[in-house]
Amino acid sequence: MRILVAAASKHGSTAEIATALAAAMRHRGAQVDVVPPEQVGSVDGYNAVVLGSPVYRFRWLRAARAFVRAHEDALRHRDVFLFSSVPVTKGLRAANSSYGVSSVENRTGARGHRMLTGKLDPARLGAGERAIARMWGVKAGDFRDWDAIGSWATEIVDRVSEHDVPEEDHIVTAGQADGRR
Ligand SMILES: Cc1cc2nc3c(=O)[nH]c(=O)nc-3n(C[C@H](O)[C@H](O)[C@H](O)COP(=O)(O)O)c2cc1C
Repeated sequence: MRILVAAASKHGSTAEIATALAAAMRHRGAQVDVVPPEQVGSVDGYNAVVLGSPVYRFRWLRAARAFVRAHEDALRHRDVFLFSSVPVTKGLRAANSSYGVSSVENRTGARGHRMLTGKLDPARLGAGERAIARMWGVKAGDFRDWDAIGSWATEIVDRVSEHDVPEEDHIVTAGQADGRR
């Protein structure tokens, strides 16, 4: 089973979530590549794609949105799992319901969307970003829940293996090939 984990990230914390997801999935026996969405040429050869982005100003980052546009057709033919990394602030969480992930879910036929709590480190932000974060009451801190990330990774591998038909099962016998069973 081959899985691609593609996560956009502006300040690095979502990229670290992608790395942790991949480690847990490898532990479960999957072959996993972690590639930033803007560097993915093709999703051919992958049984499943895990696509994530932090939410900035109520939207996914451009790289994640562009990935969906570029690979939409291919994604519809594989298992797709989405995640957003967001802070724990309640108001923002509610506001995030309209930021467009439901359209990504529809376009990719995704098997689900997880909200994973992220990280906000004011020291890494520019002055403008810091002002917005303060204005919106985004809490500073590292809220990533590594146990939740690990168990979601395990769940993904288990769900993909339900679809993962062994190679022999793809062999079409002569009778099936010409319509006789
Ligand atoms: C300027 C700015 C705007 C943000 N906008 C949102 C938002 O609209 N909704 C949200 O849930 N989180 C928002 N956040 C929080 C980030 O999504 C969160 O910190 C995320 O974990 C950062 O991921 P990254 O380190 O991969 O870039 C914002 C953070 C900043 C600095």
